[in-house]
Amino acid sequence: MTDLSITRLLVDPVLARARESYSVWLNDDDHIMSADEIVARSFESDALMICHSEILSSDVVARLSDRLKIVANYSVGVDHCDLGALKARGIVVTNTPDVLSDATAEIAMLLLLGASRRAFEGDQMLRLGTWKHWAPVEMNGIQVSSKKLGIVGMGRVGQTVAKRARGFDMEIHYTNRSRLPAELEQGAIYHPTVKSLFEAVDMISLNCPATPETDNLINAESIGWMRPGVVFVNTARGRLVDEKALIDALHSGHIAAAGLDVFQNEPGGNPAFAECPNVFMLPHLGSSTRETRKAMGDRALDNLDAFFAGEEPRDRLV
Ligand code: DGY
Repeated sequence: MTDLSITRLLVDPVLARARESYSVWLNDDDHIMSADEIVARSFESDALMICHSEILSSDVVARLSDRLKIVANYSVGVDHCDLGALKARGIVVTNTPDVLSDATAEIAMLLLLGASRRAFEGDQMLRLGTWKHWAPVEMNGIQVSSKKLGIVGMGRVGQTVAKRARGFDMEIHYTNRSRLPAELEQGAIYHPTVKSLFEAVDMISLNCPATPETDNLINAESIGWMRPGVVFVNTARGRLVDEKALIDALHSGHIAAAGLDVFQNEPGGNPAFAECPNVFMLPHLGSSTRETRKAMGDRALDNLDAFFAGEEPRDRLV
């Protein structure tokens, strides 16, 4: 049987299916595996199934065993993998697009609503018993309905966020590497630059991949392009944001509120955000529904099954 190492604990149906076709080694205490551990597993494995928590930098890739044929990512984002180095080693890499767009768009909407309507502060008032009275001027938030939403990265997740936001009568603006055809735009207004997008909208959602080009896309300069009182949401990757610049803008009120699911430092996040009442945070839950976590596993296994059947995996990246 083909040896498959799975580097994180996955939902039961996915593990059961994997064990039907592969001889599975599982990191069953679910710790984040070190580079040395991943390299060691590669000497026992024809295939690895990894999450974004396992970093395959060029140094790690250089040390992987020649035995390893394929890395099936249990994620859509692959910024934790040096694809060039993997390609040079002849190791096939796949990811899991499409299946997490709905779940991630739900979290983007939750963050947009939670940040705008001060969900964290309201929740705290009830838990701490500090809600003394209902008052017309108490906890006034920002209405989401009919606002202009700017989406950075109009791929599958961005398009799904747009679809959900249209249910709130939001006017959709976007920027993307290239303009979408009209049938995918669905009336959304294209901006060729991030600057023009940020100047035009009331609320912003990051939905682009993390690449060297998008690192620190949100910084003091680009925050300056945003309208005062903007609401900012990130469900993409923490490294897209200069967190110090974001925190300064949250303190000054230039950014009225932020909803964050991803952080530069994961796990753990940034304790400075905890000092900001106008931040609504989640611990990287974008794809975390039972349905989606199963679908991601099925997609990763479909890719492995195709590869070992001598076919082209549907989601092959290199
Ligand atoms: C993804 O698939 O990229 C999610 O962020 C979880 O890793």
